[in-house]
Amino acid sequence: MRIHLLVIAALALGSLAAKPDVLILYTTRTNHTRTVVEQVAGALGESAAVTVHGVHSSVTRPGILGYAKGIFQAFAKEPLVPLQEEPISWDRYDTVIIAGPIHCWNYSPVLRSYLLHHEAKFGGFPRKIKMGMIATQGGSGAGKAFKSASDLLALQPAETLVINESQLKRPAEVQFLSRQFASNLIAASTPAPLEVTHTPLTTLMHENL
Ligand SMILES: Cc1cc2nc3c(=O)[nH]c(=O)nc-3n(C[C@H](O)[C@H](O)[C@H](O)COP(=O)(O)O)c2cc1C
Ligand SMILES: *[C@@H]1O[C@H](CO)[C@@H](O)[C@H](O)[C@H]1NC(C)=O
Ligand SMILES: *[C@@H]1O[C@H](CO)[C@@H](O)[C@H](O)[C@H]1NC(C)=O
Repeated sequence: MRIHLLVIAALALGSLAAKPDVLILYTTRTNHTRTVVEQVAGALGESAAVTVHGVHSSVTRPGILGYAKGIFQAFAKEPLVPLQEEPISWDRYDTVIIAGPIHCWNYSPVLRSYLLHHEAKFGGFPRKIKMGMIATQGGSGAGKAFKSASDLLALQPAETLVINESQLKRPAEVQFLSRQFASNLIAASTPAPLEVTHTPLTTLMHENL
């Protein structure tokens, strides 16, 4: 009897300890990425503790001039979009997913600014984190965006998910792919960190903001 209780307690503790903490950082303009993130968060929720964190600019750029500025920043190698910062308990997370729209064959300037600002949180972890990458797009650019983000963070994604705009009209397909991404990410092992190939720009960023 006592042994049975111990076994049950050990199993319970084991399953608690095994539940990973997942952080999803996302940005969206027209809710495409939000739709996918909601599906992924729902699917992950069965086996992980999920925190969804929206990344926002502190400035809104309405109208055609704002759109033009957005395009300009999308092409900038190191976009410096002012960010609305909220604290994150980085140490808690074993797994971090970044998600955003593709703007001009790269992640949107807001998300890239956020990653530039916080790259040390990814690379500077005392333990290895598992990375997932999600993009929504009209039809092209996600592959290049994933590569740039991997190079910046010196982290290979364990799993990626790309959803084209046309697929968003088929919710069952989006749900299926989101569930597949979630279970593959949970099952994946953590890839070895990449070699850092650039000089961190964090100091420069702070001076400019
Ligand atoms: C400024 C801008 C640039 C874009 N560039 C691309 C692109 O290079 N490739 C692509 O497939 N889609 C591109 N798109 C389309 C978006 O990636 C697509 O609509 C995405 O699903 C939007 O997601 P969101 O609603 O989460 O912002 C662009 C959209 C905008 C506004
Ligand atoms: C996006 O979703 C949010 C939250 O559900 C909603 O408040 C907002 O109006 C939506 N925006 C667009 C452009 O659909
Ligand atoms: C997404 O769009 C691109 C370009 O149109 C296409 O090559 C690709 O097959 C599409 N992916 C899916 C899953 O429909």
